[in-house]
Amino acid sequence: MALLWYSTDDDVSAWSAALRDEIDDLDLRIWPDLGDERDIDMALVWLPPPGLLAGLPNLEAIFSLGAGIDAMLADPTLPAHLPLCRMVDPSLAGYMSEYVLTVALTYHRHMHLYAEQQARGEWRLHLPVPAASRRIGVMGLGELGRHVAATLSGHGFRVRGWSRSGKRLEGVETFAGDDERGAFLAGCDMLVCLLPLTAETENILDADLFAAMPDGSFLVHAGRGRQLVEADLVEALRSGKLAAATIDVFPIEPLPADHPLWRHPRVTVTPHAASYAQAASGAAFVADNIRRLRRGDPLLAVVDRERGY
Ligand code: NAP
Ligand code: GLV
Repeated sequence: MALLWYSTDDDVSAWSAALRDEIDDLDLRIWPDLGDERDIDMALVWLPPPGLLAGLPNLEAIFSLGAGIDAMLADPTLPAHLPLCRMVDPSLAGYMSEYVLTVALTYHRHMHLYAEQQARGEWRLHLPVPAASRRIGVMGLGELGRHVAATLSGHGFRVRGWSRSGKRLEGVETFAGDDERGAFLAGCDMLVCLLPLTAETENILDADLFAAMPDGSFLVHAGRGRQLVEADLVEALRSGKLAAATIDVFPIEPLPADHPLWRHPRVTVTPHAASYAQAASGAAFVADNIRRLRRGDPLLAVVDRERGY
């Protein structure tokens, strides 16, 4: 029994140490030193090269280092019969909540306007308004969206959320499905996208969606790049439908240096930096799944491949 580890984005030494703290007899194979590939029955990976997992003859389960598994599902060689488990981790949810709260407070307290004014040497006060008068909508009420909604609500914002199936969340007005999408969007002075990328959510942030929001609203996008129609965003910013946007995810990452969004005065670009799973807590979640696999118990956070998340 051996676990393959592959990621070019995560800290391999922190993850190795954390995994070995959890399971002392773990046989960890760090790519590209796979040893005898027939020993490998589990893989813990982020953006593995297409074909890597398909080449492991005795693989029994795939664990993702990230919450979003759209890139893995897009690999036609991904073994279709194996369980694929997402990352569910308190640090992932906590970092995401910090990111969204930071951006929400930036817009709420006009810091984006003061940054522009400072560049012009302009002294002009924008009076604060109470957080309770600011309506923030969260698209996606899963592991991350629920935590973000609770954090914003705890800060005093008026929070609403939208998901596929109905939810009851304390302090959050909830909406579900396409039928309630319009009512949800009509009350979003700020919209936070935390949806997984699926056939249904690709290009969901488009002109129709922006048109359903109040004029002068804000967008915080930390889902996946292909959910946003960039031309529609630029037009919504031009027309004043959107006042400003913070975008963390892009169809091509890194965002090319000559991409116009880098220089858009009302767009803040962050380099897919909103959140990630810390090794210590993430390893505890993975170790739980490894023990479950060894015992033959049901795995946690198994992706529904039909649904796409
Ligand atoms: P999750 O637990 O699977 O939650 C997904 C949520 O989206 C659920 O509430 C689901 O509704 C809802 N949803 C899915 N399809 C929908 C649709 N067509 N209409 C309405 N709601 C829909 O996922 P998560 O762990 O919260 O992660 C969400 C996403 O965040 C990831 O897939 C990834 O793309 C992104 N992410 C980004 C970063 C970053 O650093 N930028 C970091 C981590 C994750 P139901 O509850 O009804 O199923
Ligand atoms: C990061 O984007 C993740 O899906 O965890």
